[in-house]
Amino acid sequence: MNEEKPDWSSDLGDMPPEEFREYAHEAVNWVADFLAEVDDLPVFPSTKPGEIRRKIPAAPPSAPESMDALLNDFRSVIIPGMNHWNHPSFFGYFSVSASGPGIIGELLASALNVNAMVWRSAPAASELEEVATDWLRQLLNLPAAFEGVINDTASSSTMYALAAARERAWPDAHQNGLFGMAPGRVYASQQAHSSIEKGVLAVGLGQRGYRTISTDDEFAMRPDALGAAIVEDLDAGIKPCAIVATLGTTSTAALDPVAEIASIADHYGIWLHIDAAYGGPVAMLPESHSWFNGWERADSIVVNPHKWLFTPIDCSVLYCRRPEILKRAFSIVPEYLQSSEVSESRSLMDFGISLGRRFRALKLWFVIRYFGKDGLIARIRNHLRIASLLGKAIGDEDQWEVMAPVDLGLVTFRSTRGETPEEQNRINHEILNAVNDSGRAFLTHTVLNELVVLRLAIGNIKTTEEHVMKTWILLKDIAEGFSEGSRASRGS
Ligand SMILES: Cc1ncc(COP(=O)(O)O)c(C=O)c1O
Repeated sequence: MNEEKPDWSSDLGDMPPEEFREYAHEAVNWVADFLAEVDDLPVFPSTKPGEIRRKIPAAPPSAPESMDALLNDFRSVIIPGMNHWNHPSFFGYFSVSASGPGIIGELLASALNVNAMVWRSAPAASELEEVATDWLRQLLNLPAAFEGVINDTASSSTMYALAAARERAWPDAHQNGLFGMAPGRVYASQQAHSSIEKGVLAVGLGQRGYRTISTDDEFAMRPDALGAAIVEDLDAGIKPCAIVATLGTTSTAALDPVAEIASIADHYGIWLHIDAAYGGPVAMLPESHSWFNGWERADSIVVNPHKWLFTPIDCSVLYCRRPEILKRAFSIVPEYLQSSEVSESRSLMDFGISLGRRFRALKLWFVIRYFGKDGLIARIRNHLRIASLLGKAIGDEDQWEVMAPVDLGLVTFRSTRGETPEEQNRINHEILNAVNDSGRAFLTHTVLNELVVLRLAIGNIKTTEEHVMKTWILLKDIAEGFSEGSRASRGS
């Protein structure tokens, strides 16, 4: 009998393996060249809003396109429109790094494409998240009571911490919502990141549920003002829900006095969350321990390896010493996710809103192993050294001033050229725009006491003293040019 074999071959599948191999090699070669030569690229592109979009068809293609066409457009359309965060002269916001081992971890995680909702959905990813966050905990010298989970961003981590704080302050709210409850309050310094207020909104406490506390001359939270605010609120029948202290604020990298704040939190039994999204990795350095004294008494802490720990975006670790409360705030297990291991393993979906979770632990694990504790410490210590050198150089220069202590990797400063504060502000904005337009470095600004202040954040793994000092010379040259220009126009 001549039985015909069914033909199950199909051209409806994925890219053929050989084609993948060829183009993946091409892409990886491109990445290797990019990492080797990024220094030669302009940090900020000379593109205008809308320019990139106009180069891309408004509608998707109907017919397949070749990988050659895709990679060509990546090189010719996308790359010229990039602000290169992975450039050693990117000093804006907080500078970050996608390091080699982190990029490789990211590539492998995307190929595996696991979704670490529960242990059964991704056993190794679930367990590695436990291991990698515990390794980081040890590097940060935090007690074993802290359990870590990885979220996308500090904004999510902080929101989850506030949800746990709310769960503790109003256990009934889990059932009934906040309707009919006495108003509550979350406290953070005037310099705290906007993600804290967003988190307060997200957990239903409303803008009135957020109270900012004044800061001292160094932009750190004043514990006396915090204590007074709590007493005032208690007298008014408002329930304190959480205090958020920051180690490394966004504007100036100020360090709130966590030991004193922890004592206040203890005294009133208020949840203490620490936003160490930026500053956290500095806790690895033995010489910097004193800044972190007291953070081990917090209920929750957020640290972002994607800021200053050489891990590609996104990777934010939320540590919680009361994981059972965090879980209580979020744990709902639908039938299709029930399995026998639920009781003996962690289900990452229980620690936040998102069910689906990327395998972020892989890149963090690679980064920690590749550089080792000593390598990580040496790199961060070098960033602190360079920041301190720049702070001194600026402090020694006429017509420039440093605006806040240079404790971490951020230097905040301004030119004092100009007769009035308004004129000075305009000049500092012009200096900033001129530096960024040059493509040779990228900085951002903040406003302190109504003065426009330039921020230069050192944190990229490739940044050297030379990058920073060349940028300082560029800043001085630009400012000098403005002075000469205005002298010339006044003379004419
Ligand atoms: C101190 C601080 N906390 C929180 C955040 C928010 O971080 P993310 O972008 O991970 O939400 C930032 C962002 O720069 C920050 O500087």
